Amino acid sequence: MTLGVNIDHVAVLREARRVNDPDIMMALYTAVQAGADQITIHLREDRRHIQDIDAQKIIASSGVPVNLECSVNQGILDIVCDLQPHRATLVPEKREEVTTEGGLDIFKNEDEVARAIEQLHDSLIPVSLFVDPTKEAMQQSKELGAEMVELHTGEFANLFAMLNSSLSHSNHSIKELELPRYELASRLEKSLIALQESAKYAKELGLEVAAGHGLNYINVKHITAIKEISELNIGQSIIARSVFTGLDAAVKEMKRLVGA
Ligand code: PXP
Repeated sequence: MTLGVNIDHVAVLREARRVNDPDIMMALYTAVQAGADQITIHLREDRRHIQDIDAQKIIASSGVPVNLECSVNQGILDIVCDLQPHRATLVPEKREEVTTEGGLDIFKNEDEVARAIEQLHDSLIPVSLFVDPTKEAMQQSKELGAEMVELHTGEFANLFAMLNSSLSHSNHSIKELELPRYELASRLEKSLIALQESAKYAKELGLEVAAGHGLNYINVKHITAIKEISELNIGQSIIARSVFTGLDAAVKEMKRLVGA
């Protein structure tokens, strides 16, 4: 299983002060040196972290493939086609959200997604779709012509955190998941089964399977156990740990957990 390190969060810190520190290029070189198999960045419409110049420099200098996440917004897609990343991952985007919540709705936005895939393919960029783990989404991803799906692990991660960490006692407790422990455990099991079954089905359809969102040093073992998943994209937990250990050690430890 390969590890894509999402370095957006380094740019979040930089943009908080609107200075050029921490240097995103140092993050790129350190993560690659520490064993990242891929670098993942998200060029958001509101440019809240990664800027166009960052994406340009990262794609031009990365020693490993760059997975560029983007929305189906036409202006953004034109930029992505010019940037020529190794892969584009289409994700949903809402300005008011803190991070990407939920997978891309490839049913309601079918025509837009189909057009985006066609444009990216015309520019010879392979496409992954960041979708919720359902069989219907796997089938639809295949029919839309994507090469890969990235299974959204956010629901799994939220349930895991509410059940197994102090999150429920904090200011960031997830209100809709303030449930009895047996209910959380049952939902967690269902969310893992959905990930397992979706990964298996996607693979049978000939899709490559990635997963990501909310994965950390504790919950990741449940996802690495799903053998059809070949890639994980992880950001927040690695950058958070790097504050205390340095990025090199944080990437190395995650790489060890994710496996060769
Ligand atoms: N994969 C996708 C498609 C994402 O949008 C994100 C969040 O930017 C991630 C993976 C990484 O999520 P996290 O930062 O929670 O590890």
